[in-house]
Amino acid sequence: MQQYIIGNWKMNGTKAEAQKLATGFLSRIQKANRPLPHIVLCPSYPYLVPVIEILKDSPIEVGGQDAHFEKSGAFTGDVSVTQLADVGCKYVIVGHSERRHYHQESSSIIRKKIEASMKLGLRPILCIGESIEERKAGKALNVVASQLISDLPDSFTPHDLLIAYEPLWAIGSGHVPTLEEVEEIMGLMKHELSARISGSALVPTLYGGSVNAQNAPDLLALPHVDGLLVGGVSLKLDEFWEVINASQR
Ligand code: PGA
Repeated sequence: MQQYIIGNWKMNGTKAEAQKLATGFLSRIQKANRPLPHIVLCPSYPYLVPVIEILKDSPIEVGGQDAHFEKSGAFTGDVSVTQLADVGCKYVIVGHSERRHYHQESSSIIRKKIEASMKLGLRPILCIGESIEERKAGKALNVVASQLISDLPDSFTPHDLLIAYEPLWAIGSGHVPTLEEVEEIMGLMKHELSARISGSALVPTLYGGSVNAQNAPDLLALPHVDGLLVGGVSLKLDEFWEVINASQR
């Protein structure tokens, strides 16, 4: 499977910075002389349209960082999956730990977001992962397996979905699990998915949490890692480009 490198810009930057980054990635893509992975950029809402405008004729795709599952309505401050699709987004991050933590998002809400996105052809990137306490208590595998059960809808087509394993303690911390730990969890995710749905090998499983240019090559060489979800480093043109170039397939 062609790998995925997804940049989650979070609540960062200005319109001018977003445009500069998008233009920078576009010019690197145009000069690239090797096969590239799928590249997806996820700016904050106000910068989606300017970034989509810049990237519209390029292979780089754009995603939202979250969305409301209702099509429209009295939900002040929210943006719907329908609106994301309307402006040209192809992906949406769902269930990021920052949404679960700061916005108390439950599995039932996450599941509705996944269902609503899939209906519109917007591919959800479901984020799951354990806390440091859960990891220390030896519960990481159980937590990830139960999140898969509680967050995913009962039925879905495998190629509509991506799943990112992002241990909470690795996000923005500079700490990354060992390659063995990543591979163990990714293997479990593949196994759980195959028990659940036929064609599950089509679901890309990504790693996220303190990815940088140094650790990307080893992570991307792991057999079960189909890509990376990158936060901080995706705002740095040169380093993110190195991450993209570390893709193996
Ligand atoms: P990070 O964030 O790469 O800055 O650790 C990853 C994420 O939250 O998706």
